Amino acid sequence: MTAEPILFSEKIRVIENHGALLEDLKAVEAVREQVKNGDILIAKEVFQPSLIHRIKEYLAGVGRNSFPNYKPIEMGCPNFHRINYWDERSYVKGCFHQFVFFPWNQDVFNFFELMKEVYYMKNLLSHNPKQRFMQNVPEDGCVRRLSFQFYPKGMGGMNKHRDPVDYHQLIVPSLVMSKKGKEFLHGGLYVESKNGQKICLDDRADIGDVIYFNAQIPHGVERIDPDAELDWISFQGRWTLLFAINKITANTAIANSVDLESHGANP
Ligand SMILES: [Fe+2]
Repeated sequence: MTAEPILFSEKIRVIENHGALLEDLKAVEAVREQVKNGDILIAKEVFQPSLIHRIKEYLAGVGRNSFPNYKPIEMGCPNFHRINYWDERSYVKGCFHQFVFFPWNQDVFNFFELMKEVYYMKNLLSHNPKQRFMQNVPEDGCVRRLSFQFYPKGMGGMNKHRDPVDYHQLIVPSLVMSKKGKEFLHGGLYVESKNGQKICLDDRADIGDVIYFNAQIPHGVERIDPDAELDWISFQGRWTLLFAINKITANTAIANSVDLESHGANP
């Protein structure tokens, strides 16, 4: 558990070759220290933009043509999608359409195989063995979960928050799936600087990049094109993917994410 609150160090570093870094344990160790100290890492071109385009098309089709419903994180639960419209019951308030995949369900992209190198990197940077949590069942009360999030123009966003750092993770990596300046103009993923400024990471990243930072750094999603009219089914806005390792519902050892904007509403 982190004792001192971690702040953004003001350093944004680029990883040009994600695959090569994964093979170089000494270099990973150095990067781990940087992340611990609050540096941001942007790994370039980890996935092909054409693959990301196909995934977005597929998810938008699912989102348009089936009902959204929420499911708690438990062994064997189905993949699902749901709308979160500033839901009061969430630990962190946000507005997005979420598509969730669990490793015990097969899916058309074989996502967990496709994305395994990011989980390897997440584990190594979190000081865990590469293979930890890589089974298709919960391990030590935690499970891998891929969470695609679509933030619609006009209303999409997420309050500033911290995510838990514990034995399961130091980092929640995210995949850049939309290009700011093209698919949306304003807002996006930010980290807070020491003097309280919002540093927008979507300004500095391209489709296919993976962003790594210490989950305790205050961060959020600034409202996407706030002047646009909200239209969930147009799927115009910002897409991202979070490479999560979540505690299962029965695990009370790990803290919840903390919303730094809504006061007193959460445990
Ligand atoms: Fe977060």
